[in-house]
Amino acid sequence: MSTMIKIAGLSKSFGSLEVLRSVDLEVRRGEVVCVIGPSGSGKSTLLRCVNLLEEPSAGRVEVDGVELTDPDADLDSARRHIGMVFQQFNLFSHLTVGQNLTVAQRKVLKRRGPEALEVARSNLERVGLADKIDAMPSQLSGGQQQRVAIARALAMNPHVMLFDEPTSALDPELVGDVLGVMRGLADEGMTMLVVTHEMQFAREVADRVLFMDGGGIVEQGTPAEVIGDPKQERTRTFLARVLDPTHARPGAEG
Ligand SMILES: Nc1ncnc2c1ncn2[C@@H]1O[C@H](COP(=O)(O)OP(=O)(O)OP(=O)(O)O)[C@@H](O)[C@H]1O
Ligand SMILES: [Mg+2]
Repeated sequence: MSTMIKIAGLSKSFGSLEVLRSVDLEVRRGEVVCVIGPSGSGKSTLLRCVNLLEEPSAGRVEVDGVELTDPDADLDSARRHIGMVFQQFNLFSHLTVGQNLTVAQRKVLKRRGPEALEVARSNLERVGLADKIDAMPSQLSGGQQQRVAIARALAMNPHVMLFDEPTSALDPELVGDVLGVMRGLADEGMTMLVVTHEMQFAREVADRVLFMDGGGIVEQGTPAEVIGDPKQERTRTFLARVLDPTHARPGAEG
């Protein structure tokens, strides 16, 4: 089966505010899809609907052959295979890096201590932080903490990874290491849905770029098509603002 995520007619409203308007999206196994778009366009809501952190108002969400919107679906079991990395790293500050990586493995996957620790170690190695296993999160840079958060998600053996602006809280000099880890994952064949403002990353790593505005997908295609040669006026306006800093307005997204 080659489809990893299948979204059909997905709508989401908060009260009278319609945030997603009948979105259709399929992500193939191994595909890297980057989602771009202005603030408030519904990018995070779309991502959060994929693992039903947000309950859709209408439509279907299927991940890895399991329909999560089915009222009888085993959500806990389905979510185990969906890794999510947020802008805020959400590490437990009172636990070591190693403990941060083992706690869910033990609780959710029922792995025993030594096995969980081994998995933790190998995933920390994957993100270049094997030597930090006994450190406290506060002893790490923001970029290192985000790489720990990625390793923590990977330790659960996800079939798909969702990233919501994983680098936007980081100092510029720390962004590269995190993007490097994500690039490595993409190269290994991980299916990834990534909300990002890093256009260079999207250009180089994405198989497909989606531009969202007003709760819908306005335009999609290869990075060369969407970023290099956008067809829609709204996409052009957005890109002009993100790609050319002199167009950036104070307080504007980008
Ligand atoms: N829990 C909620 N309750 C009410 N409104 C919400 C909620 N979550 C999001 N919204 C609204 O839905 C709209 C879309 O929000 P969303 O976070 O998906 O946008 P976004 O594209 O991720 O924006 P940003 O680039 O700023 O992160 C916004 O108008 C937001 O205020
Ligand atoms: Mg968002």
